[in-house]
Amino acid sequence: MNNILFKLYQKIAFLGDAEKVHNISLPILEFIYKSYFGKVFHKKIISKKTKQFDISFDNPVGLAAGFDKNADYLNFLSNIGFGFIEVGTLTPKPQPGNPKPRVFRVINEQAIINHLGFNNKGIDYAINQIKKFNKNIPIGVNIGKNAKTDIKDAFRDYEYCLRKSYSVADYITLNISSPNTKNLRDLQSVNNMESFLDSIKILHNNLKKVYKKHTPLVVKIAPDIEEGPLKDLLNLVNSYDIDGIICTNTTIDKTNLDHKFKNIQGGLSGKPLYEKSNIVLNNVKKHLNDDITIIGVGGIDSASSANEKFKLGANLVQLYTGLVYKGPDLIKNILN
Ligand SMILES: Cc1cc2nc3c(=O)[nH]c(=O)nc-3n(C[C@H](O)[C@H](O)[C@H](O)COP(=O)(O)O)c2cc1C
Repeated sequence: MNNILFKLYQKIAFLGDAEKVHNISLPILEFIYKSYFGKVFHKKIISKKTKQFDISFDNPVGLAAGFDKNADYLNFLSNIGFGFIEVGTLTPKPQPGNPKPRVFRVINEQAIINHLGFNNKGIDYAINQIKKFNKNIPIGVNIGKNAKTDIKDAFRDYEYCLRKSYSVADYITLNISSPNTKNLRDLQSVNNMESFLDSIKILHNNLKKVYKKHTPLVVKIAPDIEEGPLKDLLNLVNSYDIDGIICTNTTIDKTNLDHKFKNIQGGLSGKPLYEKSNIVLNNVKKHLNDDITIIGVGGIDSASSANEKFKLGANLVQLYTGLVYKGPDLIKNILN
C-alpha cells in the first residue's frame, strides 16, 4: 500500500472506534490480498539478512504480538515487508477478554492504551491457521494464561500452549508482562519466575527430544521493572538457557499523558513508551549473556528510533503502534 492510500485510509479509520476499525480493516485487507487486487501489496522485502536463534530472517523488523492475535491475516501481513511476525497472545481456551471499549487512541501522543485482556480464539485455532499458511517468513507464537486460571497454576496454561505450538512455531514467547491479566506480572518476580521456568524448561527439553528440533524460547518483559529486580530476573534468564528476551510490553505509567487519558485502565504503547523501554533495553544488554537474542520493541516510529534500539543492543526489533500511525512505509524507511 502506498503512503497516500494509507493516509486516506487513516483519515477515515481514525473516525471510528479503534478496536472495531482494526477488526473490520484486517479481514478486508486479507481478502483483497488474496484477490486479483492483491498485486498492490506486492511483497517488496528489503533484504537485510540476519541469523538469530539459528533462524534466517530476511530482515530484522517484525510485527509485535497483539496485532494478529489469532494468525488470521498472515497472507497479507507477511507481504508488506516484515521480516517476521509474532502472533498471539494465545491461551489454552478461547476467551472474550475484558469488557469493551478497551482500545483507545491517544492521537496527540501517537500512542494507544489497550485493556484487551488476551481476547483470542484459543491456541488450537491459531496453530491450525499457521499450519494452513504457506510460510514465507518466521512466525513466533506468543503464549499466556486464561483469565480464569489462578496465577499459582499459570505454568499449566503455558505448558499446554508450549506443547501445542512447539512443532509449528519458529520461536515461542512466554508473555509474563501484560498489565491486562490480573497478577500476570507477578510471574516476573524472582521466586515465582524460578519455579515457573523450572517446570517450563523441563517440558521444553522433553519436547526437544520428542521432536528432535529446538524451538527457541523467549521471555517478554515489562518496561515497569526497576534495575534491581530486572537484574535478578536476567540472572534467571541467563541460567535457564532461555534463547531470547523481548523488551518491552506496554507500560502502566501514564504520568505524562493528558488528564483525560490518565485514568483509562490498560497498557500504554507508542511514543510515550519509547524512552522507558530503551532504559530497560540498555539494562538488559548490560546484564544478559551475549549469546541471548534481544528483541527491542516500544515506541518505534522512525528509522532513527529503530536504529537507536539496535545501537542499544537489539538484534531484532518489532512494531505495533508505529504501524498504526505511520503505515507500512515505516518498515521500508527503517530498512533503507
Ligand atoms: C492493541 C494492542 C494489543 C496488544 N496485545 C498484545 C498481546 O496480546 N501480547 C503481547 O505480548 N503484547 C501485546 N501488545 C504489546 C505489543 O506487542 C508491544 O509490546 C507494545 O505495544 C510496544 O510496542 P509499540 O510501542 O510499537 O506498540 C499489544 C499492544 C497493543 C497496542
